[in-house]
Amino acid sequence: MNEPSTTLHNIEAALAGEATAYMKYRYFARLARAAGDVVTAETFAATAAQEIHHAFGHLDLLYPAATLTPARMLELAIAGETYEYTTMYPGFRDQAAAEHSHAAQAEFSAQIDESREHAAAFAATLAKAEKRFAALAKVEQRHARTYQERLQNVNEA
Ligand SMILES: [Fe+2]
Ligand SMILES: [Fe+2]
Repeated sequence: MNEPSTTLHNIEAALAGEATAYMKYRYFARLARAAGDVVTAETFAATAAQEIHHAFGHLDLLYPAATLTPARMLELAIAGETYEYTTMYPGFRDQAAAEHSHAAQAEFSAQIDESREHAAAFAATLAKAEKRFAALAKVEQRHARTYQERLQNVNEA
């Protein structure tokens, strides 16, 4: 998107806020339900559902649908997960270790493995998609050749 960079950062921050609110309210709903307070649980669940729409609105601005293909989305996902397992979580894990936050250290270590698995799964899907595109391209080439030959026949007739 071509928005000034402050606005771009604000949209990213707004997305992070709405996405966090969605997850937090889902979590609160689960705890309220476990505590036997169904009314509070349902309020959290219903509000979480609204936050999804707010987040989608921000995503529309950050990643306009017209700029995305399945391959591009897979590339974006691979880049995000790779950043998580190569940079973000290792840094967070080391900081947690330095601060003797053992629970956080264990959580970040587990997330390194999860993010690596997610990146690999997206990469496998992308590789399969690329094979599909290559096969389709061959079919298109064959069609183009056939049309070219027919055209030649028509021109020579
Ligand atoms: Fe919201
Ligand atoms: Fe992930």
